[in-house]
Amino acid sequence: MAGTIPELYAEYRKRLEDVDRIEKELLRTNEQSSWNACLIRKSELVRDYYSKTEQDLNNLINPYLYGSSPLDDKTAMELFEGASEYYNSAMYDDVMESQIFKLLWEYYQSTGNEYMERACRCAFSNNAFLNVEGRLRKYAIEQAEWVSGYIDRIDYLRKMHQDDDEAFYADVRRVFDTLHGQYEMERSRFEPNVNRMIGCFNNLSKIRKYRRLFPDEIWETLEKPLNEVGTDVMFMAALHWEAVDVQLKEIIGPAYPIGFIEQTKLPVEQRDMKVYVGYIVYAFYSGLLKPEQTFTLLRSYSRTITKEYDFNDPNWYEQPDDSRFAVITTTTKPMFEMIDEFSCDDDKKKRMKAELLYEVKTYIETIPRECACKEYLDQALYHLLYDLIGYIDILEVAIEFIDSMVISRQMATLIHTVMTGELSKTILDRLIDAHPELFTTVLETEDLREVAARKEELMTLMYNAARCHDIGKILIANIINTQIRRLSDMEYSYIKYHPKWSYEILMRNPHLQNYAEIALGHHRSYDGNSGYPKFFDNRTSRYRILIDLLTVCDCMDAATDVFGRNYARGKRFSAVLAEFRKAAGTHYNPKIISFIEQDEELRKKLENMTSEEGRSDLYYHIYRKYR
Ligand SMILES: [Fe+2]
Ligand SMILES: [Fe+2]
Repeated sequence: MAGTIPELYAEYRKRLEDVDRIEKELLRTNEQSSWNACLIRKSELVRDYYSKTEQDLNNLINPYLYGSSPLDDKTAMELFEGASEYYNSAMYDDVMESQIFKLLWEYYQSTGNEYMERACRCAFSNNAFLNVEGRLRKYAIEQAEWVSGYIDRIDYLRKMHQDDDEAFYADVRRVFDTLHGQYEMERSRFEPNVNRMIGCFNNLSKIRKYRRLFPDEIWETLEKPLNEVGTDVMFMAALHWEAVDVQLKEIIGPAYPIGFIEQTKLPVEQRDMKVYVGYIVYAFYSGLLKPEQTFTLLRSYSRTITKEYDFNDPNWYEQPDDSRFAVITTTTKPMFEMIDEFSCDDDKKKRMKAELLYEVKTYIETIPRECACKEYLDQALYHLLYDLIGYIDILEVAIEFIDSMVISRQMATLIHTVMTGELSKTILDRLIDAHPELFTTVLETEDLREVAARKEELMTLMYNAARCHDIGKILIANIINTQIRRLSDMEYSYIKYHPKWSYEILMRNPHLQNYAEIALGHHRSYDGNSGYPKFFDNRTSRYRILIDLLTVCDCMDAATDVFGRNYARGKRFSAVLAEFRKAAGTHYNPKIISFIEQDEELRKKLENMTSEEGRSDLYYHIYRKYR
């Protein structure tokens, strides 16, 4: 047990490293019995750490939080240093974090110490400010340097202030003022920084949907000075400024060729990546370049950039945007767009896309799963998937691409989706034979013989939907991968979005659209009274029976998982089935539950698949196939 706060942090970091090391061992080990032993060791370690971390934290920090030990300068500083240094590895949940910041605020208010300001900045970047009140909250918001993070969470604010429009507007207004201030400050510099200016516009455009909350003059003061800020900024601002205003377009039109030529004159590595790529694409849309020319420019540019992104740099957010990673994530989508515009035949287009996709996939495989910039990676890879998935013409290739994205961030989700796929296939195989009438809506037919004849089609539909149902989780992989502490309310509120994110990705590809609704409904209850997302009514869906089956299999895997979950040891299959019985009719489809209960052979199969041996067998094969 750690004796001091710094020791506690050190131990926490060591725990994360231990888990990481065993994960790497799993990827290396070939022989199955030692592989199994390694898997068991990992799950025990994680579970043990999970309870230990909580205990250690409480033992050490609670006496300060609840007043039995008074703070002194040294302890206060240690508390703050730990919180600021480790917020990336998220040692505290945000309730504890806000308690700590509140404590520091009170302490430094009475002592006037400079750390207060830094503490508040940390509070802000960590969202802890959402849990603090009064002057501390106001101060945190005003002082925030991490405004962009705040902007991304505006929807969260909306939720927090559900019944209180005024409080919400006041918060948005404060963000707006901060942004406006930053913009003015940047603009008034002798040489404004292009990226920071673009960043300001990018952020401002995100709150544009709240335009009606503010007087028009404010927006005018933002748009007018564009004339003075240089071509690149104007151009990028226009690209970012959703629903581009007419005046803005008028400014951009004549200015842009000059900027383009200026960028082209620079040596490749000195070009501003986003600006340069933006110019190339804009040149295509304004008819100056043919698709083939645009493609060649983008491709040769992206191939010239060889500098690697340092994923392990703790100050990754300060790295310039000129790495191979940034270039690949920025240029691949426009390259796909161009291929679609080529005048060659369809087969050649397919071949070119397959080649391009292969290059991207091969690159993604080189990205480390554990690194300093997890949150950034999650966002970047999610958006890359979102951008590219629609261009993939072959179903199997699309699913493979989804798999490679999941593997790059979350082995646990891959295992979960394979497991859910296998369970649902096993049940469905027998359910269709016994109750073909349940599937007439899915196939839009009244004919039971047709259901029997199209059994394979139904099985594939279910299996693939199960394999894709949690793809939205890659956006929050860093939260899902949190293994050794409890999730905070805030994190949990993000997790609730994952069916919607899965849906949005799947809807972008015509081959995957059939799975989108099934994924969207997998956390809704059978009776439609609980679960998320609330806006989706699973009861009227054509795919209802498949949604119900996925819900059962999803929970069956989670509840019996003896290896992956840290907060509770996996239960035996029979115990889980008994729980399902209790919730049949409310949470689960009672027909499916009764069917499993009555079919002894099926029950045995499911029991085997979810047992420790069944699981380690399957996991072993997944690791061997996908590592
Ligand atoms: Fe899910
Ligand atoms: Fe799931």
